[in-house]
Amino acid sequence: MIYMAKPQIGDEEKQAVMEVLDSGMLAQGPRVKAFEEAFAEMCGVKHAVATSSGTTALHVALLANRIGSGDEVITSAFTFIASSNSILFTGARPVFVDIDPCTFNLDPDKIEAAITPRTKAIMPVHLYGLACDMDPILRLAEKHGLAIIEDACQSHGAEYKGKRVGSFGTGTFSLYPTKNITSGEGGMITTNDSVIDEQCRVIRQHGMRRRYYHDELGFNFRMTDVHAAIGLAQLKKLDKFNVQRQANARFLSENLKGVVVPFIPEEQTHVFHQYTVRVSGGKRDALRTHLQERGVGSEVYYPVPIHKQSFYVSDLGYEQSLPETENAALEVLSLPVHAGLSPADLETIVAAVNEFTSLH
Ligand SMILES: Cc1ncc(COP(=O)(O)O)c(C=O)c1O
Repeated sequence: MIYMAKPQIGDEEKQAVMEVLDSGMLAQGPRVKAFEEAFAEMCGVKHAVATSSGTTALHVALLANRIGSGDEVITSAFTFIASSNSILFTGARPVFVDIDPCTFNLDPDKIEAAITPRTKAIMPVHLYGLACDMDPILRLAEKHGLAIIEDACQSHGAEYKGKRVGSFGTGTFSLYPTKNITSGEGGMITTNDSVIDEQCRVIRQHGMRRRYYHDELGFNFRMTDVHAAIGLAQLKKLDKFNVQRQANARFLSENLKGVVVPFIPEEQTHVFHQYTVRVSGGKRDALRTHLQERGVGSEVYYPVPIHKQSFYVSDLGYEQSLPETENAALEVLSLPVHAGLSPADLETIVAAVNEFTSLH
């Protein structure tokens, strides 16, 4: 079976973990600090704050930007539920804007109509490894005095006009094992703002500035040194992994027939966390079954847009229509693209897809 994801763990990660275990310092310590510094450098920002997951990174980033009860945050409904749940955790309300059907990211032209006096932030989600169209989003944020919280959980190292994601506002990343790099579980917040950086560190650690003096509500959202050791070893390989993913994606795009292959806008680098095609004519699920029979994994990210999830409808009262989002949910299919695929795996994926599309 060719799986959708395969963490690339080598001797460097194993040795780094053993060193932490031997050191006796397992909780947040020097490896976390080193990982934060290296991650900040990778993004081209001044500060990075490690957390226990991408979800907690989002939660802390929102709180540090003073998002809370009564506020609205504009984001996409075509993403993993953690993007918008993190907004709910703060007491604020996610306001969903439709996507651009070519990039699957927020359509900047539709954002301004969703801004109200309650809007405090925009959360662009750089989905599948491709940055959102940031220039118009930054212009709107400036015009209306809004914070930018980037959900870059799927886009480590992706660039928009030469700048890395996570450097446009407060950035957030996931280090879950399926991501382009992993720490086992983990997250990272990135910022150039020293006030936000400090606030994130306080919220991550029980609202504590001085030991056992608690000025505000905080959490235990720390990363351990064991996880940081893995993450640091992985970070050194990020560029290599991304280049491999891009080469795999290029091969797929050059050879697949009968599906719409991913679009890469000019002046952007796609890091292909997912390689996602569109299958029209209601044939997506049949293609998935066919691939399964040929030993090729695939996945639908995401079959139910967030505004259609049952508790968003029944408990939170969402009833809007987002046509491009809903259409994408019916047509998208992600194929294996990870850095562990062999040339034979790629040939198998292409042959299985093309066999189906030539017959249907
Ligand atoms: C777009 C997006 N946002 C947020 C998250 C949450 O990250 P984590 O699973 O590390 O909590 C993920 C990861 O699955 C994601 O893909």
